[in-house]
Amino acid sequence: MHWRELLPLCAACGGVACGVVIAMNDACAATDPHSFSRPEEVAVTHLDLDLAADFTARRLAGEAVFRVQRHAASADRLILDSRDLDISAVEARTGGAWQAVDWHLGEADAVLGAPLEIALPAGADRVRVQYRTRPEASGLQWLAPEQTAGKRQPFLFSQSQAIHARSWVPLQDTPAVRFTFTAKITTPAGLKAVMGADNDAADRDGDYHFTMRQPVPSYLLALAIGDLAFKPLGPRTGVYAEPSMLDAAAAEFAATEDMVKAIEQRFGPYAWERYDLLILPPSFPFGGMENPRLSFITPTVIAGDRSLVSLIAHELAHSWSGNLVTNATWGDLWLNEGFTTYLERRIVEDLFGSRQAGMEAVLGYRDLLAEIDRKPAADSALSVDLAGRDPDDGFSDIPYEKGRLFLAWLEQCFGREAFDRWLKGYFARHRFQTITSTALLAELEQYLLATAPGTVTMGQLREWIYGPGLPDFHPVPVSAAFEPIDTARNEFIAGRRAAADLPAASWSTQEWLYFLDGFGDGLDAARMAELDRTFKLTASGNSEIAHLWLKHAVRAGYPAADRRLEQYLIGIGRRKLIVPLYEELLKTAAGRERAAAIYAKARAGYHPVAQVTIDKLFQPGGEGE
Ligand code: BES
Ligand code: ZN
Repeated sequence: MHWRELLPLCAACGGVACGVVIAMNDACAATDPHSFSRPEEVAVTHLDLDLAADFTARRLAGEAVFRVQRHAASADRLILDSRDLDISAVEARTGGAWQAVDWHLGEADAVLGAPLEIALPAGADRVRVQYRTRPEASGLQWLAPEQTAGKRQPFLFSQSQAIHARSWVPLQDTPAVRFTFTAKITTPAGLKAVMGADNDAADRDGDYHFTMRQPVPSYLLALAIGDLAFKPLGPRTGVYAEPSMLDAAAAEFAATEDMVKAIEQRFGPYAWERYDLLILPPSFPFGGMENPRLSFITPTVIAGDRSLVSLIAHELAHSWSGNLVTNATWGDLWLNEGFTTYLERRIVEDLFGSRQAGMEAVLGYRDLLAEIDRKPAADSALSVDLAGRDPDDGFSDIPYEKGRLFLAWLEQCFGREAFDRWLKGYFARHRFQTITSTALLAELEQYLLATAPGTVTMGQLREWIYGPGLPDFHPVPVSAAFEPIDTARNEFIAGRRAAADLPAASWSTQEWLYFLDGFGDGLDAARMAELDRTFKLTASGNSEIAHLWLKHAVRAGYPAADRRLEQYLIGIGRRKLIVPLYEELLKTAAGRERAAAIYAKARAGYHPVAQVTIDKLFQPGGEGE
């Protein structure tokens, strides 16, 4: 019997549309520890949102109407998640008539927010909540005009993953529940609203209507408002950005349409119709976010030479791994991110060749080894128990790069052809549903291991998923392209080769990253000065190269980069690029003083999630993520 036949399915749709089977984590009724909602009793299947954006008060205000479906006959309440919402009225509709109903906001938990419990009269099929968000909503960032590229209009964007949707919409905020939605968003004149939905590029009238036909989990709910223009990249791809960034963004991400084609060809049709990019202001705390139909992208990947576009491949790949087949709980984030990192490298290989993909794999592997060293052993498993913890704590290189390596190992063991067949089938079998580590094991056993019995054991799979660190049979990514870099670095360190004689003219971004990373702690100020004279690294406009360079500058005490460091930390809010620099500064007393002075200037411009992370660094015994 197939494992899924053992699970209770939604009577109405078999779980396909409403996602309720999916709440049945690991073939038992385990629930998402990061949501108060009880979708196995009553589940939201559709949302109608009507919100107005007030940039002066920094609030969204309006209403959310929910279509609800009862899964237990006795169910008499709907529980939604909320955080810092001001709720003014709750009503339910029964037989077409609306009436006020009892509701109660439970005690707020620091991580989870507060449950909003709503009494559901017999026969009620709709619930309406009127509410306003607070200026400090953790899932929104309100930007002043000075924080944008154009400097004239304000900007707002949401970042819902993992559990921040509840700070701007009361929701069953668990990836186990999928819903379709419509939204009406009202903005001040001159601003354009976009959502992870069916955007109309031509519309600019301040009154925007969206429809999302494909059911999505709450963490993919996304909204942005700003001075946005659009440029097509291909028949079903395009880019939204502030007007002054638009041409640079379109040039940088010209390969987007080809990326969609590449992945479709191998792993099945793109399920979301259009794929557009939205370039955010530099305070966006992530590299990218895979909001459906509209990935949110940091401007720090616009390097001018397309060298960081694997990030687009990554966010696009989530349209399969994550948005189509979704981790049921945040402890299984690797099922989203590991699969996506695997697909990302496959797209890079298809479009830019195996040399490029190989280099990126080696860089990822190096990050992984460093992360495993930093983490407590239990946190280096792929599947982790995050109950009682902030799901943002699960965010590290482990789910990404260990997850990818696990899949690369399976590919190696079974051969690319068999593995690709399995992966394509996996997406087809689980589309619009959630997946757990346990369910994946069953899926692998039935559909991959059975094709070539004896190739790998279930014990090996469990070691990958539940074991700490890396199994000793893990593959080690290598890249011949990096051998000459090692040689060059060694000769430079040994003083046998001057900076001017390094063969760097032809180095790509990845070769530079490998060159710089390989110094470890061993790049001193004198050598930095020599490299800087020759290659102008302090002035590098490549955000990744600048990041590594500035890390060395802090370590080595290289004052020529001081101003650049401050400018970098104030100008960018992407957590991955700024947190390690603060960590490096905080290692010495003098550095701590500098870090505090810079943070005092930078903090107000950072996104709430970046503020939380960096605040923690400054606390006694604080450490980053
Ligand atoms: N979905 C993630 C971002 C995320 C993960 C947000 C967990 C909140 C919680 C996104 O797809 C991602 O992985 N972004 C990466 C870029 C990628 C190329 C590794 C990032 O932001 O650095
Ligand atoms: Zn991702």
